[in-house]
Amino acid sequence: MKSTLRLVATFFLFHILLCSTPSPAYAAGGGGQWQLLQKSIGIVSMHMQLLSNDRVVIYDRTDFGRSNLSLPNGRCRENPAELAVQVDCTAHSVEYDVASNTFRALFVHTDVWCSSGAVAPDGRLIQTGGFNDGDRAVRIYEPCHNCDWEEVGSVLGASRWYATNHILPDGRQIIMGGRLEFNYEFYPKTAAAKQVYTLPFLAQTTEQQGVENNLYPFVFLNVDGNLFIFANNRSILFDYNNNRVVREYPVIPGGDPRTYPSTGSAVLLPFKNLQAPNVEAEVLLCGGAPRGAFQNAIGTRSFVGALNTCGRLKITDPNPQWVMENMPGPRVMGDMLLLPNGNVLILNGGAVGTAGWELGRNPVMNPFLYRPNNPIKSRFELQNPNRIPRMYHSTAILLRDGRVLVGGSNPHFGYSFSNVLFPTELSLEAFSPSYLDARFASVRPKIVAPKSPSELKYAQKLKVQFLVTGSVVSDLVSVTMFAPPFNTHSFSMSQRILVVGTGNVANLGKSTYEIEVTTPGSGILAPPGYYLLFVVHQEIPSEGIWVHLI
Ligand SMILES: *[C@@H]1O[C@H](CO)[C@@H](O)[C@H](O)[C@H]1NC(C)=O
Ligand SMILES: *[C@@H]1O[C@H](CO)[C@@H](O)[C@H](O)[C@H]1NC(C)=O
Repeated sequence: MKSTLRLVATFFLFHILLCSTPSPAYAAGGGGQWQLLQKSIGIVSMHMQLLSNDRVVIYDRTDFGRSNLSLPNGRCRENPAELAVQVDCTAHSVEYDVASNTFRALFVHTDVWCSSGAVAPDGRLIQTGGFNDGDRAVRIYEPCHNCDWEEVGSVLGASRWYATNHILPDGRQIIMGGRLEFNYEFYPKTAAAKQVYTLPFLAQTTEQQGVENNLYPFVFLNVDGNLFIFANNRSILFDYNNNRVVREYPVIPGGDPRTYPSTGSAVLLPFKNLQAPNVEAEVLLCGGAPRGAFQNAIGTRSFVGALNTCGRLKITDPNPQWVMENMPGPRVMGDMLLLPNGNVLILNGGAVGTAGWELGRNPVMNPFLYRPNNPIKSRFELQNPNRIPRMYHSTAILLRDGRVLVGGSNPHFGYSFSNVLFPTELSLEAFSPSYLDARFASVRPKIVAPKSPSELKYAQKLKVQFLVTGSVVSDLVSVTMFAPPFNTHSFSMSQRILVVGTGNVANLGKSTYEIEVTTPGSGILAPPGYYLLFVVHQEIPSEGIWVHLI
């Protein structure tokens, strides 16, 4: 009787609490749909890159043990330097074909674990570093029908394990940091460039070994040609040509670390008004784990709540200050993706713990949508949840059709499918943001010209023609160009989106419209390479077309 009363009382109290809670600053139960694409691709999607043939290169690590996918034709990888299985007849990389929802095994020889990469201007994925015999290796993957990895050799000047790459205006890529490496280098190598350049900022922001809190630094190419680099709780603007720190930004409020293993994520918000004399650049950084989270987790096995804050910093401002915002909830190991309409999707990860083996808890199943142009406190919208936890070693990337490909999760030292918290995930899912809902069919643009793929030059006038079956609000039409990033460990390297034109839409009749845009003026705004071009109408994007800006 007593316990029943207590139950009833608790129930009423719960109700009162619920009803008296002020309505949250975000709409609950927003939208979006989840779809399971593949129950198993045989490997963990730990690293992902979309290529210009709509195929995604995925890999995990050669020293995970035997994967669930055999190499074709009885092929085996014999590598005496390998730490796990010296004769391994299983694959550790796949190519996923978006259109047919199929995949095939790829062959990678040296260890690619916790490596990095960027797509070269010609569309080839240049992947650098890793672990063990692969820590100085460069490997190339060309997007063609039946291609496979090509090992260039051990050509890097330093060990690149947990480094960040970024594509540069001249088409080279910079490779920044890595474990115990307080330096950077470039690839391809040129006679003029040194093998390695030191960067004391990386030494200053590192903590004890294993808890560096500055690995996989967030690197962005700013509109002035310098690099914005965020590591731990600090950030600088860096002139990589002259190895000179141009300015130091304020420490992020709260002072908590945001980079690995206190893994948050970050994006460069869309570039707008590209014809203006001074284009503005703004960074948004969300989540992470508070100082001491990793030590607590490995020491006393106590798992602390992740950070629920985002910081927004106008990096081009003469007197930049972080503006802090609250997410709908805490998140560590989240991925931040730019969507074709310039909104930001935050997904994957957990609400408790940190990155690292067995150190994450409380998966966050609901993505958060962030609308950067809304007034502060009304920017977040909770999205529909999936059912598969995507913890440490999970990934997410935007596809050409506007869906988000989600894979991975393996917080264990090898493949581990039973009797563990968060078993190894070999599945692939797609998240369809609500802009793909059928109810927007009459608003959605369909690009009819130019054809995909198209070659574009810098500062070129380009007429984009599209169909819309309903009525068109000219001012609410824009054209965006998106650089597909290399994603691993919650960071999307070289990710950027540019609004290349807005409004002034001409009606050509028969539901066909035309907007004239100007491509970006320089490789500083948009490094050369393949972009996805979208027409966006009332926040609803078309399917993208591939354009090659060179
Ligand atoms: C992978 O293979 C193991 C056996 O080798 C099996 O127990 C496990 O269920 C497989 N996992 C998936 C997701 O296919
Ligand atoms: C920033 O991080 C360092 C650790 O690298 C720490 O010592 C410092 O106190 C932090 N700054 C603030 C303002 O909390």
